[in-house]
Amino acid sequence: MSPNSRLSVCDGASIPVIGFGTWPLKDEECARAVAAALACGYRHIDTAEMYANEEAVGQGLRASGVPRDEVWITTKVWWENISDGALQRSAEASLKRLGVDQVDLLLIHWPNKQVPLAESIRALNDAKKRGFARHIGVSNFPSRMLEEALALSEAPLIANQCEYHPYLDQSKVRAVCERNNMAFVSYCPLGRGSVGGVLEDPVVREIANRLGRTPAQVVLRWHLQQPNVIPVPKSGNPKRIAENFDVFGFSLNDEDMAHLSSLARPDGRVVNLAFAPEWD
Ligand SMILES: NC(=O)c1ccc[n+]([C@@H]2O[C@H](COP(=O)([O-])OP(=O)(O)OC[C@H]3O[C@@H](n4cnc5c(N)ncnc54)[C@H](OP(=O)(O)O)[C@@H]3O)[C@@H](O)[C@H]2O)c1
Repeated sequence: MSPNSRLSVCDGASIPVIGFGTWPLKDEECARAVAAALACGYRHIDTAEMYANEEAVGQGLRASGVPRDEVWITTKVWWENISDGALQRSAEASLKRLGVDQVDLLLIHWPNKQVPLAESIRALNDAKKRGFARHIGVSNFPSRMLEEALALSEAPLIANQCEYHPYLDQSKVRAVCERNNMAFVSYCPLGRGSVGGVLEDPVVREIANRLGRTPAQVVLRWHLQQPNVIPVPKSGNPKRIAENFDVFGFSLNDEDMAHLSSLARPDGRVVNLAFAPEWD
């Protein structure tokens, strides 16, 4: 695996194996961070309608000088806008804000119990047919709901973006992704870098010290060494932006991989909103 590596999944999609997360960056700080990420080699940017930073992401992309066709851009439709018509309008508005003709990947950000899944998946497919997105997918879909969405979708769903880090077991939904040749995109890949979080875990720290790497690099490497997993770490700090991309010069052995996976615990989830689906 190298900094230019891509993951090939269904629908002929080929996705850069690390993405740059942009929430909660905004305005100039966001534009600067996106340009810094592209300058150090990231070629995959993760944004969303809800982040209110798509304009800044577009500015950062143009400021970087990296050609549009070299950068994978993912955006997401907020869960309140996933009915037929609203979803397509949301996608088109995202393109305007980003200043691009098409995104590489359009995701339903969260499922919505008030909107039939068949309707939102049909609308997502329509957005693809209209050329708003090269590929489509979902986010925060637990395994059964993902299976249902896959059965309903005319075009392949190429990704499910979900929280994932060593404190959270996601083996069920990852297995569905792998079986269907989809990417499993890890959000909060660093457990949000919080106090007492995964970056401070003694196991992570011991491996990092032994390998002469940082805890974040060890955790990102753990993501990258799992089938179909693509982490999208966020940082607003140029040093950490570069640190998080500098993960191609070492690897974890099987024992360290297993040890990190064994840290999963029942209270490991960081993001649990009132409208969240029933998790696996
Ligand atoms: N689909 C969804 O529902 C959903 C939900 C949440 C997030 N996301 C996406 O996933 C991306 C990543 O998730 P996230 O931002 O919640 O969490 P994260 O990437 O796990 O963690 C980000 C936090 O870790 C810190 N950090 C970054 N690199 C570090 C390093 N090398 N060492 C120590 N601390 C470091 C950052 O601080 P500094 O900025 O100060 O470096 C920030 O506070 C988001 O930006 C967003 O694009 C999607």
